[in-house]
Amino acid sequence: MCGIVGYAGTAPAQDASSSTGQRALEVLVEGLRRLEYRGYDSAGIAVVGANGIEMRKKSGKLVNLLEELSSNPVSAASTGIGHTRWATHGGPTDANAHPHVVDGGALAVIHNGIIENYSPLKADLVASGHTFLSATDTEVAATLLAEVFRGLPEDGAGSSEGAYAGIGGRLAQAMQLVAQQLEGAFTLVATHAEEPGVVVAARRNSPLVVGLGDGENFLGSDVSGFIDYTRRAVELGQNQVVTITADQVEITDFFGVPAEGREYLVDWDAAAAKKDGFASFMEKEINDQPDAVAQTLLGRNDGAGNLTLDELRIDPAVLKTINKIIVLACGTSAYAGQVAKYAIEHWCRIPTEVELSHEFRYRDPIVDERTLIVSISQSGETMDTLMAVRYAREQGAKTVSICNTNGSTIPRESDAVLYTHAGPEIAVASTKAFLAQITATYLLGLYLAQLRGNLFQGQIKDILAELAKTPAKIATVIANSGQIRDLARSMSETRTVLFLGRHVGYPVAMEGALKLKELAYIHAEGFAAGELKHGPIALIEEGQPVIVVVPSPRGRDSLHAKVVSNIQEVRARGAMTIVIAEEGDESVREHAEHVFYIPETSTLLAPLLATVPLQIFALELATAKGYDVDQPRNLAKSVTVE
Ligand code: G6P
Repeated sequence: MCGIVGYAGTAPAQDASSSTGQRALEVLVEGLRRLEYRGYDSAGIAVVGANGIEMRKKSGKLVNLLEELSSNPVSAASTGIGHTRWATHGGPTDANAHPHVVDGGALAVIHNGIIENYSPLKADLVASGHTFLSATDTEVAATLLAEVFRGLPEDGAGSSEGAYAGIGGRLAQAMQLVAQQLEGAFTLVATHAEEPGVVVAARRNSPLVVGLGDGENFLGSDVSGFIDYTRRAVELGQNQVVTITADQVEITDFFGVPAEGREYLVDWDAAAAKKDGFASFMEKEINDQPDAVAQTLLGRNDGAGNLTLDELRIDPAVLKTINKIIVLACGTSAYAGQVAKYAIEHWCRIPTEVELSHEFRYRDPIVDERTLIVSISQSGETMDTLMAVRYAREQGAKTVSICNTNGSTIPRESDAVLYTHAGPEIAVASTKAFLAQITATYLLGLYLAQLRGNLFQGQIKDILAELAKTPAKIATVIANSGQIRDLARSMSETRTVLFLGRHVGYPVAMEGALKLKELAYIHAEGFAAGELKHGPIALIEEGQPVIVVVPSPRGRDSLHAKVVSNIQEVRARGAMTIVIAEEGDESVREHAEHVFYIPETSTLLAPLLATVPLQIFALELATAKGYDVDQPRNLAKSVTVE
């Protein structure tokens, strides 16, 4: 939520990489382009050149800022900051867009997060004569930063060393002092005309990573903010201030005490985050799914059925004592958790609850040292999930993070991590991360079953062998999606769609409904098929589309027959039934207007296939309605506020 980029590079005169001296601007714009999935209510940049700070910002998507920059260009510059916004404090207007420039035009500030004590701070600043142009908490922080900066002696006289220590000088010191006063979650990034060549940032509970270049350094909300320029990244801890110049990076805590960041190499490159000729990132990411599942499985078993999860740094003896699992997640990730519950309980016989992260800590949950918390988050930055994980750790629970983003906060703050290797997911509505999450939770479930002796090695080997066949089957579903695409396009006038499923098909139905809501802005609900007769069936009227996820007829006792009965019940009341069924299941044909077949697989692995036509259905229907499937309205991908 909100994308942040910072850049410190060579002075324009010696800038060999760009004949126009616009390297800083180019880096900022590219970074914002890649981070736009984090919010698209407004975009803005500020650069520091020979004429001091020059700022441009516009409400709406990045394209509006680009138009502004072409009609009103900025001068050559070596340093700058950029921001793409998901509005929290104050509507999505030009005035509320970031950067906020204060201190008579000398200081530019951008921010991600919510400053909870902005109101008393603002009252104090107003009382001392400051006026505000926007409704944002950011402008309050910026104004405070300007005031603190002006209150510090220019040469650092009076500080312990008699001069400012380190490369950040007065701005870094001011940032530390301000950060100490702020409550809530923030990444604040600032640049000052009197300290050209320097960008300073503070972080608490909001994401920020550093990119290390050659004669230039970068800041980004995540590595995609600078992946075009470097794959060398540095993780920052909580409550830290970082200063970058063209050739130095300095990290301290909020009190100026030096700190170290962990350097790592990003394991994907800029090409992985491109559309590759697909019409949208979502279409590309749907097509990435066979690979996302295959990569997540890769290297995690020895072929004989022995799982080796190297990143699972919790003592096996401790894992053996676990008597309860709680899965914490939001949105699509929570549906992956609901699928996982069926598999983990079946394989490991450990009671497993799935809880929306934001509900968890407010209900006084029963958590202790024998509870294993499994958080699932694509971004690793979802604030609700982070807070829930912290709470659980305070209660003594062990925490495992299933995450797609190396270097992000949730895995850092967990006891162990199991990365999903889906590659960067850019489209706001999650697709490939979902399948990779299910895969990773299954690996975890099988690992626990192996450790605790719930399954024989041969059984684990068989399940792994079947999982290994899944990528090719997903590819088949995608290759055969013509029919569901045609149907979706023909349904662009549809006002409401119901989804039904049972057992693991139930969370799949809910995920199918969520995709349709997110992308096509159509009312959609996913129900447990068995619950239908207890209420939702009243919604059925002539022509009502109902999509039913039908389990394998070879699977669990009576499940298939029960779902077929449910289809008959809605059809008898006029529903238009669309059925996702297993190849060869002819029994559903007579009850369905449309049938889409997926390859045979076991009941527990079916979600990895059955979800795909539902993703494609939502994508095509939204596209037919003319909507931007990568950036649906009102949403953001990485929700870093509670
Ligand atoms: C947002 C996104 C969803 C995502 C959810 C959880 O709501 O729009 O696509 O499923 O956050 O995100 P996470 O990064 O924690 O998986």
